[in-house]
Amino acid sequence: MNSPPSDAFVFFGATGDLAFKKIFPALQAMFRNGEMDLPIIGVAHAGWTLEDLRRRARASLEHAGTFDAAAFERLAARLAYVDGDYGESATFEKLRAQLAGAARPIHYLAIPPSLFGEVIDGLGCSGAAKDARVIVEKPFGRDLASAQALDQTLHAVFPENSIFRIDHYLGKEAVQNLLYFRFANAFLEPIWNRHFVNDIQITMAESFGVEGRGAFYDEVGALRDVVQNHLLQVLALLAMDAPTRDDPQAMQAEKLRLFRAIRPLEPGDLVRGQFRGYRAEKGVAPASGVETFAALRLQIDTWRWAGVPFYLRAGKCLPATMTEVIVNLKPPPLAIFGGQPAAPPNYFRFRLSPHVVICAGASVKRVGESMHGEPVELIARHDSIAEQSPYERLLTQAIRGDNTLFTRDDCVEAAWRIFDPLLADPPPVIMYEPGSWGPPAAAGVMRGTDTWHNPTIGATAQ
Ligand code: BG6
Repeated sequence: MNSPPSDAFVFFGATGDLAFKKIFPALQAMFRNGEMDLPIIGVAHAGWTLEDLRRRARASLEHAGTFDAAAFERLAARLAYVDGDYGESATFEKLRAQLAGAARPIHYLAIPPSLFGEVIDGLGCSGAAKDARVIVEKPFGRDLASAQALDQTLHAVFPENSIFRIDHYLGKEAVQNLLYFRFANAFLEPIWNRHFVNDIQITMAESFGVEGRGAFYDEVGALRDVVQNHLLQVLALLAMDAPTRDDPQAMQAEKLRLFRAIRPLEPGDLVRGQFRGYRAEKGVAPASGVETFAALRLQIDTWRWAGVPFYLRAGKCLPATMTEVIVNLKPPPLAIFGGQPAAPPNYFRFRLSPHVVICAGASVKRVGESMHGEPVELIARHDSIAEQSPYERLLTQAIRGDNTLFTRDDCVEAAWRIFDPLLADPPPVIMYEPGSWGPPAAAGVMRGTDTWHNPTIGATAQ
């Protein structure tokens, strides 16, 4: 862990969407919970005053339904505002003046990546980067080459251990629990390998479309928006070996080893889909070939996982909004109950949203004379999502200098290496109906008799 903690919080893009939706609610929660009492400096180029920004902060909290008068008062009292063009040194001089008294600021770039270069330059030239940290938001590039260029821009001013790359999935309670469940229990390890696991599936389904983000989404698509980052991070926690110590470097080392062992995608590993109606969304090109759905098969070339397919699927306008992992075990080797078919294979199910569920699927005998079974789920955890939002958790940790939940340059680049071969020359998109589980062709990435598990809200499957 880096120490000591940051002593001022600066956020660029203070008047923007991310600040409105995520940053103000997280900051207020941090003031409320006593995790934060730093000067907060918003920076933007909008011709606003500090009062305008305070009003915006309040509107954001009211919109989120979390406005808390006492906590807001503390936040508003610590808030300052710098207005100016990110390309002009005067903006950074004003920022330096606001930072007087702070020796170790943290700068959050809640701005489009196209503006990173000039802001990083401005911070470097003005001296505001000295002993400072920087937080950046995904996307971390759009392929390997642009990710490397972004890392170069960042490294020109900030050392790697002062860079905090946010993938908000890593701040989710359920994702943390995945890591905990795997490595706090010894019973999983003997079966968590190719001898017992048939396949692993991760589905991130969203029942909504691009919700006004058409222009952004059409530049990105499902693979870059959520698969290369959020789903790959979930996969890493499911498949990596145990870190040797509870420290960020040990964790990153295991993730990196895993990412490097994932075979780069080949044609046939990926099916892309687009929901019917997407091309009519505002900001989307009329003949867009961008995917709103992706289904893929990954292979991990390690002794633990050789031959076990990892299936990942993400899409917009699917039948539900939920993220779920299924680890399917191999079937029992024999059916020994007089003439009855073998019981269905066991599985582990991890629902990551909207609720946290961890359970094991098993078979038990039905009451009666015959040896008939029925499936049950042994539920280890079933919660509504905890109060601490991913952004509150991640910003608190970044301010403390703890980069456990952030991604490192080499991991980001290794993740792009998996996708790069197909990003340049992707298979065409196949249309699917909104409200369906994507194009039926998604079954084509499945091996042998494997089938997609579609998460449902049922009696036990919540
Ligand atoms: C974001 C993507 O990173 O994650 C969105 O840009 C997606 O398209 C969102 O909807 C999902 O996050 P969550 O936390 O709502 O599951």
